This record gives sequence, structure tokens and C-alpha cells, in this order.
Amino acid sequence: MTIRGVNIRIENLTHRYTSKSPITFDRVNIEAQRGESLVIIGRSGCGKSTLLHIVAGLLHPTSGMVCLDDAQVQAPSSRWVMMFQAPHLFPWMTVERNVGIGLHFAHWPKKEMRKRVAEAISLVNLEDYAKNNVQDLSGGQQQRVALARSLVMEPELLLLDEPFSALDAFTRTALQKDVRSITKQLGINLVMVTHDIDEAVLMADRALVMAGAPGKIVHDLRVDLADPRERDDPAVQATRSHLMQIFHDASHLTSRNSASTEVDGGAAPESGLVSII
Ligand SMILES: Nc1ncnc2c1ncn2[C@@H]1O[C@H](COP(=O)(O)OP(=O)(O)OP(=O)(O)O)[C@@H](O)[C@H]1O
Ligand SMILES: [Mg+2]
Repeated sequence: MTIRGVNIRIENLTHRYTSKSPITFDRVNIEAQRGESLVIIGRSGCGKSTLLHIVAGLLHPTSGMVCLDDAQVQAPSSRWVMMFQAPHLFPWMTVERNVGIGLHFAHWPKKEMRKRVAEAISLVNLEDYAKNNVQDLSGGQQQRVALARSLVMEPELLLLDEPFSALDAFTRTALQKDVRSITKQLGINLVMVTHDIDEAVLMADRALVMAGAPGKIVHDLRVDLADPRERDDPAVQATRSHLMQIFHDASHLTSRNSASTEVDGGAAPESGLVSII
């Protein structure tokens, strides 16, 4: 499989659901290089999923734009794929058929389809389950099938909305490692939303903290750690503490005009004690 990443440019993105709704988020600006992994963290309701849906072309912004390699996102595309908390598989089909469903609808020739599906299944380490029905798989295995189904389309960008939050800690750790190593191996961009600070540190090249009402990106922390990342590595733990502090501080930024982006190393706003996870 040949997958390349994409340059992402999100410019002055503003959204409200209806003219009577409050503004969901206001003038969000994000840039990412080809192959970069961004993890967005923020308290519930600050607009993370809405932002991801707009990047995926599933929702339109009220103003501003999302550009991928300078082409404005207007609608969904197989160039970028989104994965959710639930894998949304077809339970009566095998792993192979679920993974190949996009290629099937795109009328791929059978032989090439089989080859591509086998590659994607091997990437997520499910070779031994290829012929099994997905309803006989564990939650973690089903999420791996969903990942393979996303990768088989050779996307440039993978969008993940809390994809591991329903999984047990052990399965979650394995998937965090595998998704990071697969995206790095393929050179694909990742934009992921999570409530989990550890997950952000283990998976991000940059952790973006979203806060305020309406939401804004208030901090952009470069996570410069070697791979593979282990939870008990002192460098990982130090970054986790730093990000946790930023996260606590950001919980105070809830008023309309109080949020402005801090880049790594910038002065942190007033310290707070309330956890926002
Ligand atoms: N379809 C909708 N119509 C109107 N308002 C909505 C709709 N979906 C979400 N909202 C509101 O927009 C705001 C942002 O929602 P969003 O789902 O993006 O938050 P989130 O940061 O992903 O939260 P969580 O962490 O709980 O998933 C919330 O106040 C929510 O109530
Ligand atoms: Mg959400």
C-alpha cells in the first residue's frame, strides 16, 4: 500500500449549529505538516467532534475553511476517513468482507481487491481472523477491523474521534501503539480527539488543547518523544505532567474572549485545580 500524508490548513474556522445556537467554536486556526499526528484534547462540549466532522467534510463551517494540500474540503472523500468510538461493522460479514466493502462499492477487480484487503488486515495484525465473522471478535479486534477498513482506501488523513474509549486498558494501549506506528510507517496524517492525557502523549506529535465557550485552540504543545513510547518512561511522564498542568489551566478559559493560542514555551495562564477530563 502506498499512502502519503497531506498538508492541513484550517483557517479562521467558526461554527454554530443554527442561527439561534451559541457559537460552537470561534476562529480556530491549525496548520499541520505532511505526516504529522495531531491530538486534540478538551472538556466535553467544547466542539472537538464538531471540528473533526468539518475537517471530514461531514459538516459545513459557518465561516472559515479547511484546506488539504490547498484544496478546500467541501464534502466527504476517500482521501480522508473518520473512525468513531463504535466500529460500525456489518456483523453478518467476515473480517475480509468488512475490510473490502469500500473497494467492493468502488468496483475494484477481485484479484487486486483481495491483495489490498490482505495487506490492510496484516497491518492491523488480524491475519488469523480474516475468515471469521466480525460478531465473533472482541471489541478491540472489531476496532482493528474498522482501522483496516479505513486504511484499505489508502487515505492521506485518518480522523479519529475517541476511537478507543470503550476498550479495556490493555487493548487500548496496544491499539494506541499500533495506530501510531502504522500511521508513521505509511506517512499518513492523524487528527485525533481524546479526553485521555496519556493517550495524547503516547500518540501525538502535537497536542492541541481546546477550551473556552465558544471553543478555541488555547495551547499547542510539541510532543518530542522517541518511539516507541512507554507509559512508565520518565520523559513520557514529565510530558504528561506538563500537559496535565496546561489542561488544568485551560479549564479557566471559559469566557467568550478569554482564549488565545499559547504555543509551547509560552506563558501559561493562571493555574487552576479543577480536572476537566
Ligand atoms: N446536532 C447538533 N445540534 C445542535 N447542537 C449540537 C449538535 N451537536 C452538538 N451540539 C452542541 O455543540 C457543542 C459541541 O459539541 P461536540 O459534540 O462537538 O463537543 P465535544 O467537544 O466533542 O464533546 P464530547 O467530549 O462530550 O464528545 C455542544 O454544546 C453540543 O451540545
Ligand atoms: Mg465528541
